[in-house]
Amino acid sequence: MKQAELKTHPLRESQGADEDELLANQHTIIANQERIQSNQAKLDLLLANQEAILANQAKLDLRISQQEHTPASPEMIGVNPIFREIVRKARTVAGADATVLVCGETGTGKEVLARDIHARSARRDRPLVTVNCATLPAGLIESDLFGHEKGAFTGAFQRKLGRFEVADGSTIFLDEVGEVPLETQAKFLRILQHGEFERVGGTQTLKVDVRVIAATNQSLERLIAEQKFRSDLFYRLNVFPITLPPLRHRREDILLLVNHFARKYARRFGRDISSINQDSLRQLQEYDWPGNIRELEHVIERAVLIAEGDILDIELPSGNEESYRLALDARTPANVNFIGDADAHRFVTLEDNERHYIRQVLRHTRGRIAGSDGAAAILGLPPSTLRSRMKKLELN
Ligand SMILES: Nc1ncnc2c1ncn2[C@@H]1O[C@H](COP(=O)(O)OP(=O)(O)OP(=O)(O)O)[C@@H](O)[C@H]1O
Ligand SMILES: [Mg+2]
Repeated sequence: MKQAELKTHPLRESQGADEDELLANQHTIIANQERIQSNQAKLDLLLANQEAILANQAKLDLRISQQEHTPASPEMIGVNPIFREIVRKARTVAGADATVLVCGETGTGKEVLARDIHARSARRDRPLVTVNCATLPAGLIESDLFGHEKGAFTGAFQRKLGRFEVADGSTIFLDEVGEVPLETQAKFLRILQHGEFERVGGTQTLKVDVRVIAATNQSLERLIAEQKFRSDLFYRLNVFPITLPPLRHRREDILLLVNHFARKYARRFGRDISSINQDSLRQLQEYDWPGNIRELEHVIERAVLIAEGDILDIELPSGNEESYRLALDARTPANVNFIGDADAHRFVTLEDNERHYIRQVLRHTRGRIAGSDGAAAILGLPPSTLRSRMKKLELN
């Protein structure tokens, strides 16, 4: 009777159906929640992987660009005593993590020295990260150096790591540091002092361990006087300042460099350059080289390229590289005036030159070949190679 009553009671019947539906819905909700949670976990994993891929990609890009542009071991050619003393001092601080500020005119070898310091530091196994502060567009410099979060600005579709983050555990080379905009300098100071920064559009404070080598061809003191550079940042960078001399103050190195570049480009262009016109040598030694070693390198590169025989003939018409270039361009091959065999006495063979340079370097090192201040290190050669060159040149 009771059961029949229950069965036939319309309200009870509909209540039971509602409960069933409710229960079924609850199950669906729980199942969906579980699915959402598992998807969320997968998404987190995916994001973490993506981040790792991006970080690796950035490191890979830098390593590739390094291999393309950097010689395996930096060349520090020169016997000038002031230059050698600078190289010696730089190598002394290479091992310490001190900030180094390299000053000097354009083309004096600031980047070469920075690479040499990094290559001799404990961080040498990690790639040196180079930033040219002069070529970074003003609006992008912060994001380039410190990175940005997704959506930090229009076009920031993804989180990007900055160069300081990529350089974590390694060295960063801040070229043309005088060009860093005043607005960015405070952020710079903080990362130099505490290694701390935030990505653009981010709130999380990040910490990195980066050794800084900065370079400038401008006077930072003058920029401070013009209120374009923060003096506190200058003092922070100026812990170990190094000033590279212009080439006109180390003329004894001109021949050494000519020899080095003549060899380098003869090899690169598949030329067989055996000697150099003595008149050319005299001109090269008298010229003032406002563009320093880079300018000399370009002059030799072009001379090797246009050489029609095995003799390097260089003309620097008015002591000005631009007019030299124009004069070269204006020369037709028929007008190239190489001096014939009858004038051979006017030439010095590259071997004679080499013998002379090696002797000069050995005199400077008092005969020492190996070691960090030995002749081999100065000439950028392994000691065994230098010994076999000396044997070939009959040098004792
Ligand atoms: N001591 C050196 N021995 C051999 N080559 C050198 C030396 N110093 C510089 N060079 C060469 O001269 C050129 C200019 O050097 P680098 O780029 O280091 O100069 P820089 O001072 O950084 O110039 P800028 O101020 O214009 O950036 C490079 O091709 C480099 O290989
Ligand atoms: Mg440079």
